Amino acid sequence: MHDASQPLHYLSGNFAPVREETPPVKDLPVTGHLPECLNGEFVRVGPNPKFDPVAGYHWFDGDGMIHGVRIKDGKATYVSRYVKTSRLKQEQFFGGAKFMKIGDVKGLFGLLMVNMQQLRTKLKILDDSYGIGTANTALIYHHGKLLALQEADKPYVVKVLEDGDLQTVGMMDYDKRLTHSFTAHPKVDPVTGEMFTFGYSHKAPYITYRVISKDGVMHNPVPITIPEPIMMHDFAITENYAIFMDLPMHFRPKEMVKEKKMIYSFDLTKKARFGVLPRYAKDELMIRWFELPNCFIFHNANAWEDEDEVVLITCRLENPDLDMVSGNVKEKLENFGNELYEMRFNMATGAASQRKLSASAVDFPRINEWYTGRKQRYVYGTILDSIAKVTGIIKFDLHAEPEPGKTELEVGGNIIGIYDLGPGRYGSEAIYVPQETGCTAEEDGGYLIFFVHDERTGKSYVNVIDAKTMSADPVAVVELPHRVPYGFHAFFVTEEQLQEQAAGSYAS
Ligand SMILES: [Fe+2]
Repeated sequence: MHDASQPLHYLSGNFAPVREETPPVKDLPVTGHLPECLNGEFVRVGPNPKFDPVAGYHWFDGDGMIHGVRIKDGKATYVSRYVKTSRLKQEQFFGGAKFMKIGDVKGLFGLLMVNMQQLRTKLKILDDSYGIGTANTALIYHHGKLLALQEADKPYVVKVLEDGDLQTVGMMDYDKRLTHSFTAHPKVDPVTGEMFTFGYSHKAPYITYRVISKDGVMHNPVPITIPEPIMMHDFAITENYAIFMDLPMHFRPKEMVKEKKMIYSFDLTKKARFGVLPRYAKDELMIRWFELPNCFIFHNANAWEDEDEVVLITCRLENPDLDMVSGNVKEKLENFGNELYEMRFNMATGAASQRKLSASAVDFPRINEWYTGRKQRYVYGTILDSIAKVTGIIKFDLHAEPEPGKTELEVGGNIIGIYDLGPGRYGSEAIYVPQETGCTAEEDGGYLIFFVHDERTGKSYVNVIDAKTMSADPVAVVELPHRVPYGFHAFFVTEEQLQEQAAGSYAS
């Protein structure tokens, strides 16, 4: 059980889960105007435990709940639904938390939980043959389907219904070709329509890379061999390459028991390694590995090719500690110092370099996704406070230089806009929605859309702001019927995609 003297921070207050789903609530109050390009559904997923955890709680743990706002012709409808994962269905059957959670996997008790989980599976009390994921991390749309993702499992298909409601269709295994976990951060190439993805596991070669065609056909697995099992949360693509990040966040169950650590522990003595592979390679023979100073990375903004170099724009952390988001361990995320970096890997000389583009703490970097894998200019991110709450939305201009010696996030140099949420108000990942689609349109000529919660009034909103000006006056504010807890990644499903998925078949 958790130490009662320590509050379960990520289970209480404004992080507390919303246990009940909300069927579509129509005609929400809208201040301002919802532009036509926002016709579609804005969705955001996050951890929202249906049942109280057995032991510790880690913010990565909770069952995925999607909060959606269907926008059509200036009107807005709100809905929230759990992703009906195999794990959630089984726990609902038992009426309580039964599956191992990251927060449980710590110290000797962690070992006990691992053993118990194995025993339950062996005795067929629990069925983990279809994965035990929570689908709580991120959402993406590909080949007519909206997918809810969590890196320990396969994707879940979620159908957006005509009224905006969200219905879990089931797990996606690409005609049984997918036999491993699937990252929460696959990349869709906007030009070719292909999706690029990978999974990581505790068995060699540890990483498996996959290409999924525009038609939804998964190509053969490409093993990516690294020295030991790690956590790899994100990767990147360019027009010709896929970039893998072998960062020393190791899976070390022995250390967990000996040093009462989490099952993943960070090794400060190891270099950060980046593997660049031609993106249609059938094997890993052509991969080139580059080394940079020790770091961890959750999220990349984008990557592209610049003559001989592959450029990666990323949020880099020094000395991360996954315990930092364990609700019962620490109140403060002292090490949550994500800084925006540019990394360069020279394919001709084998040299790697990096330079800092911002002070901390920036995360959830997003771009105009018509530029995925291509050189672009603007990056939008969230500004985080000491307990990972989002206090503002920030815009970087990669054509401008950072101001030397700057230690604060403020407008100037390469920071060309900050939308400050104001006292007591916190947000979540902002998604860029273009007014016009395609790379020929103005790169920042659209809007940013994100959830906001006002802790002073207890009310939650969806805000739409002008991405070009980052004006303090929002373009539109939609008032939601109840609190939306803080969560992970968001996505905007366009009207065109909604129509395509409505017409599609749902056999996985
Ligand atoms: Fe993520």
